[in-house]
Amino acid sequence: MKTLLSTALKHIDGKLYILNQAHLPWQEEWIECHSPEQMADSISRLQVRGAPLIGISAALSLAKYVEQGANEKEIYRAAELLKSARPTAINLAYCIQKQIKAYEEQKDLQRIIKVAEDLFEEDQKLCKDIANHGFDLLESGDSVLTHCNTGGLVTTGIGTALGIIIHAHNHGKKLHVYVDETRPLLQGARLTTWELKKAGVPYTLICDNMAASLMRDKKIQKVIVGADRIAINGDFANKIGTYSVAVLAKHHNIPFYVAAPYTTVDPNCLQGSDIIIEQRNAEEVKGFVSDYQNLLWSCEDALVYNPAFDVTPKEFVTAFIIDKGILKPDDLRYQFL
Ligand code: MRU
Repeated sequence: MKTLLSTALKHIDGKLYILNQAHLPWQEEWIECHSPEQMADSISRLQVRGAPLIGISAALSLAKYVEQGANEKEIYRAAELLKSARPTAINLAYCIQKQIKAYEEQKDLQRIIKVAEDLFEEDQKLCKDIANHGFDLLESGDSVLTHCNTGGLVTTGIGTALGIIIHAHNHGKKLHVYVDETRPLLQGARLTTWELKKAGVPYTLICDNMAASLMRDKKIQKVIVGADRIAINGDFANKIGTYSVAVLAKHHNIPFYVAAPYTTVDPNCLQGSDIIIEQRNAEEVKGFVSDYQNLLWSCEDALVYNPAFDVTPKEFVTAFIIDKGILKPDDLRYQFL
């Protein structure tokens, strides 16, 4: 496999590495990924995360397995394992299925490697296209609210929602970003602030429950978020809390945009209620669990509800910013069916 370099995933000197996002922003630690089992574990533990990146990381891991001499039976088993690491983002299944289809067309395992390389490089271009389409939607002076983390850490390029903001900033637009901390795992507080700081974009971190009063006080002009799966009717799944932000934006008449590559649109998913929502460990809500410190702030036996994602109905979406262009929810079916 060729040399491939991005913010949080790289293949260099014949070795595959992920940036351990569970340790950010405290430590920038690259982990070598030796096997599909290890990659599946890293995906489910969110060491590597975000819809586009989990798909591409899984694809590179399957490609590496081919290089290590895996046979057809072993590849099929590894493909199933990787696909099942997380259920909500369609990108994971999309990437693995694309590799398996390419293999089956010519019964040539080398094609699994070529597809992985192509997926990695294509995502960089998709991010550029998304950023270019989104550019015109932002005006100098805008304050933009975003939720979760959608930059270079979750793609092989500049990012999706955050990519638009960083691209516009780099091209002279004066923007300010309000960053939802994004409970329970704090992707906003830990990762989006890390990315915005590196990019030199001014930002303010807020707790998730602060957006309403900022909107009422006219401090937010636009909302841009990412997506983990977009149904063909325009409903979409994204990090838990996105739906609340969408409801608030509609109430306050603030445009609500969803940025994603075409690989996040699932033409086989007719509506949001068909999307499987990942349920995660109770410990993530009862306290803070990390390799650095474990802090319990609730009663140990508290009952917990911890869905990783929620579904926002299409009525709340002003437009999707896809690599193919700006699409209204009802236009998705014409592009993708
Ligand atoms: O659980 P995570 O951290 O993988 O969730 C990530 C998100 O919800 C992102 O907003 C989404 O994947 C879009 S990333 C371009």
